[in-house]
Amino acid sequence: MQSKIMILFLTCILGSSFACGEDAEIQGLELKGLSIEYNRGTLKVLNQQKLPGEEEWLQVETPEEMVEIITSLKVRGAPLIGIAAILSLAQLCEREEPLPVIEAAALKLRSSRPTAVNLANYIDHILYVMKSSTSPHQEILNTVSEIFHEDTALCEKMGSIGADLIQPEERILTCCNTGSLATAGIGTALGVIKMAHQQGKKIHVYACETRPLLQGGRLTAWELEQNGIPYTLICDNMAATLMKSGKIDRVLVGADRIAANGDFANKIGTYSLAVLAHHHHIPFHVVAPYTTIDPSCPNGDAIKIEERAPHEVRGASGSFGSVCWSPKNAPVYNPAFDVTPSSLVTSYILDKGNLRADEISSAVK
Ligand code: MRU
Repeated sequence: MQSKIMILFLTCILGSSFACGEDAEIQGLELKGLSIEYNRGTLKVLNQQKLPGEEEWLQVETPEEMVEIITSLKVRGAPLIGIAAILSLAQLCEREEPLPVIEAAALKLRSSRPTAVNLANYIDHILYVMKSSTSPHQEILNTVSEIFHEDTALCEKMGSIGADLIQPEERILTCCNTGSLATAGIGTALGVIKMAHQQGKKIHVYACETRPLLQGGRLTAWELEQNGIPYTLICDNMAATLMKSGKIDRVLVGADRIAANGDFANKIGTYSLAVLAHHHHIPFHVVAPYTTIDPSCPNGDAIKIEERAPHEVRGASGSFGSVCWSPKNAPVYNPAFDVTPSSLVTSYILDKGNLRADEISSAVK
């Protein structure tokens, strides 16, 4: 009798722990970055389209809304769009949506921007976890949390490796926005700049405005001010003159996808800066986490470049309103990124160290 009770008792325990797979109460997530917040199913993002004029937080309810937020660059930057997308999936997990619903949402989010590889990497990892786990909802939440915290830690590592290279009073040129508005942490190139500044190196930053969407003029300038880092804003076409007059000591940029041979895609205009830096013998570094390396991509020619809408080039819009300064239907070419060949890169400041192009593959986990 006693052993029958024991068997019954064990069956209950085992039964409930197996059921734990799908039926146990979901342990919700709480995550906080400078421009993204997640609290047990409530997801908020800082609307980067409105910065620096307005600090508007958007509450996101569905993956469809997140797709719109990512495609319109209200949230942007290679690691951050990946993190925003998987937080949108985390929301579905907290609501215990069926797995086919989560998978369909993941695929829509995955195709929202094609060039930055972090988005595809993170989504693929989540889908793998979903398919291989006995408690997929909880496992996805755990994985989202791991990716978020890992990105923060990778930023710190790149920051410290990069800051070691920076000499006192250097004048550093950068483009686009590569800071806390592009990652979960302090940023990539801008993370290095922040750390060098914190170390008292008295650096000065030249921020390219970054036409057409002005991520430098609106976002990097805002972040530099928030961090009290001295800077000068320039139009993109002023970089050559600055370099020629000896006013730039180093160029630091981020990356959206690094091919196996070291060629990399980054914000349009990066390639011109690399050519200019090479011509003027100025060190040119790419700062990126290993999650931005795509070992399956052999070289830059294989990177798909996103082309965007003509109105972005015909004018500008933001918290200041909208303006069109060209003829209304002016024909436009608007690639969002360009590819810089590895031959123009002095070194890659990755979370694994300050590496050469032929060492990149060893940096991938
Ligand atoms: O179109 P965006 O604003 O998403 O482009 C961002 C960049 O090109 C950044 O330089 C890149 O994502 C690296 S920053 C971590």
